Amino acid sequence: LSTTEVNLAAIEPGQAIKASFRKQPLFVRNLTPKEMAEADAVPVSSLRDPQTLEQRTAEGHKNWLITLGVCTHLGCVPLGAGEGENRGPFGGYFCPCHGSAYDTAGRIRQGPAPKNLEVPKYNFTSDTVVVVG
Ligand code: FES
Repeated sequence: LSTTEVNLAAIEPGQAIKASFRKQPLFVRNLTPKEMAEADAVPVSSLRDPQTLEQRTAEGHKNWLITLGVCTHLGCVPLGAGEGENRGPFGGYFCPCHGSAYDTAGRIRQGPAPKNLEVPKYNFTSDTVVVVG
């Protein structure tokens, strides 16, 4: 199976880019300290798909949120990475198809999607390069 290499050097805090991984959209986001604090402030037991930000990021790289850009409802591409400034009411990503709203950890918070945005397998090969897959 193919891998995708992403160079993180040019992604500013607060910015998210859309890349591509195995023909699917891939979101790579550099979380700000405020966005990480917002994610950490949510009681995990209140979540539909309970996961912490730590569980969804790599050790020592908690600011890098790397997920598929595929809504877990019916597969639309949510807004908020690279195109469209509408990140929805929870500040992460917003799916315009049926209104699923994801938070700054890419976790489902509102709308019909059942699961958090999927985190693919990946490895940091340096502080600025990640290989997905
Ligand atoms: Fe995203 Fe339905 S496909 S809310």
